[in-house]
Amino acid sequence: MAQNMFLRMHNVSKTFPGVKALKNIDLEVEYGEIHALIGENGAGKSTLIKILSGVYQPDEGAEIIIDGVVQKTITPLDSLKRGIAVIYQDFSLFPNLSVAENIAMVSRVEKRKKIVNWRETNQIARSALAKLGLKIPLSKTLSELSVAKQQLVAIARALVNDAKLIVMDEPTSALSRGEVESLFSIIRNLKEQGISILFISHKLDELFAISDRFSILRDGKYVGTFGEDELDDDRLISLMVGRKIEYKIFEKRTLVDPIFEVRNLSKAGNFKDISFTLHRGEILGITGLVGAGRSELAQAIFGLNPSDSGELILEGKRLQVNAPEQAVQHGISYIPENRLTEGLILKKTMSDNICLTVLKQISSRHGLIEKEAQNKLVEKWIEEMHIRPNIPNMIASKLSGGNQQRVVLSKWLATDPKVLIVDEPTNGIDIGAKADIHQLLRDLSEQGMSIIVISSELPEILAIGDRVLVMRRGKIAAILDGKNLTQEEIMKEAL
Ligand SMILES: Nc1ncnc2c1ncn2[C@@H]1O[C@H](COP(=O)(O)OP(=O)(O)OP(=O)(O)O)[C@@H](O)[C@H]1O
Ligand SMILES: [Mg+2]
Repeated sequence: MAQNMFLRMHNVSKTFPGVKALKNIDLEVEYGEIHALIGENGAGKSTLIKILSGVYQPDEGAEIIIDGVVQKTITPLDSLKRGIAVIYQDFSLFPNLSVAENIAMVSRVEKRKKIVNWRETNQIARSALAKLGLKIPLSKTLSELSVAKQQLVAIARALVNDAKLIVMDEPTSALSRGEVESLFSIIRNLKEQGISILFISHKLDELFAISDRFSILRDGKYVGTFGEDELDDDRLISLMVGRKIEYKIFEKRTLVDPIFEVRNLSKAGNFKDISFTLHRGEILGITGLVGAGRSELAQAIFGLNPSDSGELILEGKRLQVNAPEQAVQHGISYIPENRLTEGLILKKTMSDNICLTVLKQISSRHGLIEKEAQNKLVEKWIEEMHIRPNIPNMIASKLSGGNQQRVVLSKWLATDPKVLIVDEPTNGIDIGAKADIHQLLRDLSEQGMSIIVISSELPEILAIGDRVLVMRRGKIAAILDGKNLTQEEIMKEAL
């Protein structure tokens, strides 16, 4: 057996009632290696990680060796003790506790200490942050920190426990470009110290920037492991998806019928003097560096973050929007970027989640839900969004992350708004399904919906935006015609 492997998983299978999520998977991670685990939504990545972290038990016949020790079974505590630390997409931190408490938490649980010793807690936290070269105030409440900082706290917590393998399940979906860069330099630093990283992401450019080797899952099966030098984008995608994927560039349309107008919208510290017009059936792309004020602007239009001054005019009428309910009544919907924390009720079924926003549409005059109308609606969205498995009464928590994203998208699209604002629509969606989502947005716009798409992914903006609004430090830098537009022209305005 190879000496240099920190982790060997062999013949791992996992059966859930009615679903064989993993079939004879192999995975080996070397000491000090950055290893990418990739595959489409529902391929089994998170399930494999949860077996490693002791959340799920594998089917009979699995062999797992961690740091030279054969594991008969793995409980969450075994996994921690063997040096495995998993950072889930929601970080599983405690928002109401301080930074220091969050970092020291695990070591306290492990030692079964109940009494909080502040001195020790602070000391543990300080040395973990120092290892990462970070300065974050120890006494700050976690929820006061930016998402990026929270992520770093999660990494610091992993280090406290002398993690030898840090697993990150889609860690960059909420980070800006600059934050991703600093996360990567931390990861490289950890690698220098001999720590292994297992990295899950749908962003291929990031994976190529950081990974030594790639293991690919397809439909619960192991496709293989490849060195970075053996792969390029096309090869990787065809191994992962089994077919060729092309971003379709939609033909840009000439816009004639203005429907929604934003006039001189300002909010101190967020954005200033924003004016633009949206046309019927238009897709307007909004881009700019993260922090340019894009999401704040969208939230202002939707009433989540009301502006200080300015006007919104829909079909000639001035709107009063101080809360999301008002926006929805006027026919404006907003799909947030952090959909999984804001958009989904995990304990409810897929069907209930999709119908939540449209209860009126599917209810009788007496307010009773009409089963048949509900089923029809849900079936339609399962098909449009290719949600898998296509079982309407599946509990949402049992869906893969990307399929949960699709449910939340469906939920808001079902409201059939006049104006739809969608923030990073393909965040967490695999490369094979991105094109489907683009097509869906295009179809909706053809039917007359006016859509604002906020995205950092320039190829996405170029593929679907009839026009592109570029924001820079809270202001409009330019509104560009999508015809023959290039990434360079957009970047020039954004910087
Ligand atoms: N607790 C569960 N009960 C039933 N089925 C489950 C459960 N957890 C996961 N599954 C199923 O197992 C399969 C693999 O899901 P998993 O979450 O591992 O996918 P993934 O590769 O992480 O996808 P994504 O990129 O969308 O996050 C999916 O079909 C999912 O619905
Ligand atoms: Mg997942």
